[in-house]
Amino acid sequence: MAPLAKLVVACLILSLALIQVSWVAGGSIATYWGQDTNDTEGRLEELCNTGHYSHINVAFLTHFGDGRDLEFSIFDHCNNQVSCIRFGRDIKTCQSKQVKILLSIEGPYGTYSLNSVDDAQKVAKLLWDSYLIGVGFDGIDFHIENGSALYYENLTNYLKDYGKKNNKEVILSASPSGLYPDAYLEKAMYSGHFDIVWIQLFNSTSCQYDSANQNDYLPVASWEEWNMLLATGRPLFLGIPASEYISRSEQTDMDPLSPFGVPFFVPSIKSRHVSSKM
Ligand SMILES: *[C@@H]1O[C@H](CO)[C@@H](O)[C@H](O)[C@H]1NC(C)=O
Ligand SMILES: *[C@@H]1O[C@H](CO)[C@@H](O)[C@H](O)[C@H]1NC(C)=O
Ligand SMILES: *[C@@H]1O[C@H](CO)[C@@H](O)[C@H](O)[C@H]1NC(C)=O
Ligand SMILES: *[C@@H]1O[C@H](CO)[C@@H](O)[C@H](O)[C@H]1NC(C)=O
Repeated sequence: MAPLAKLVVACLILSLALIQVSWVAGGSIATYWGQDTNDTEGRLEELCNTGHYSHINVAFLTHFGDGRDLEFSIFDHCNNQVSCIRFGRDIKTCQSKQVKILLSIEGPYGTYSLNSVDDAQKVAKLLWDSYLIGVGFDGIDFHIENGSALYYENLTNYLKDYGKKNNKEVILSASPSGLYPDAYLEKAMYSGHFDIVWIQLFNSTSCQYDSANQNDYLPVASWEEWNMLLATGRPLFLGIPASEYISRSEQTDMDPLSPFGVPFFVPSIKSRHVSSKM
């Protein structure tokens, strides 16, 4: 099984002078789910029932573009008819509790790239038919970490277009690296189609919390850029590890929010990797 990259994401009020974290349960926390097993991270419905989350990114759609079939991998959460039907039902249950469920495209393990504007349109159509209409996801999370940086702005454009033409809200979010600008999503960020941005404050020496060096947590210049980009009032979320293991092999520092005066928050209901510090 692929390693897991878990993070909890806390919403920041967009003011550099006064970096405040809004910490209202249910209103402003998102998480990734889908890269571990049912036994470890529980069912989607259980996560929604905690009442902690406003958004859940289901990870990942691992293959797309360049003529590839879309491939979706959430392990035993949906690997046969019974589990997939249950997963589909869980999405509806979550949505009935006002939790938005996004499909996270790609992440670290897949094979994907867009090779033209046409390709972006084709992928948008596949995502629309199969996942936004078919499965009923509320939107798409762009978690691009490999391949080419091209045509993502066109993909965001086409996805929003499908939504508009069909009167369905399509939420688009971006998960760029903490250091500005993000190599893959920079152009797409300026398309103005992202409703939410969760910056990744992990797995990168410059943006990862290090208890020995708290002042350099996030370079101030990057922070200002993120703030300006989102000056339109759209939410900016701070992406932090929810477990000291962001993957099976990589350990990260705990207490990532303590520089912001926020207690560590453990979102997962029973992840074996989560620390007892709650
Ligand atoms: C962390 O970064 C390395 C290299 O930058 C990458 O190979 C790895 O997949 C990343 N891990 C996660 C969990 O994102
Ligand atoms: C999934 O985990 C739950 C407990 O969280 C358990 O009750 C259920 O039987 C499990 N389902 C499968 C298919 O393993
Ligand atoms: C990035 O993509 C290439 C080709 O698609 C693949 O060979 C490589 O393993 C990928 N890198 C990572 C870290 O997944
Ligand atoms: C694709 O994106 C580029 C860059 O933003 C833009 O100039 C171009 O008009 C887009 N093409 C279409 C067909 O939307």
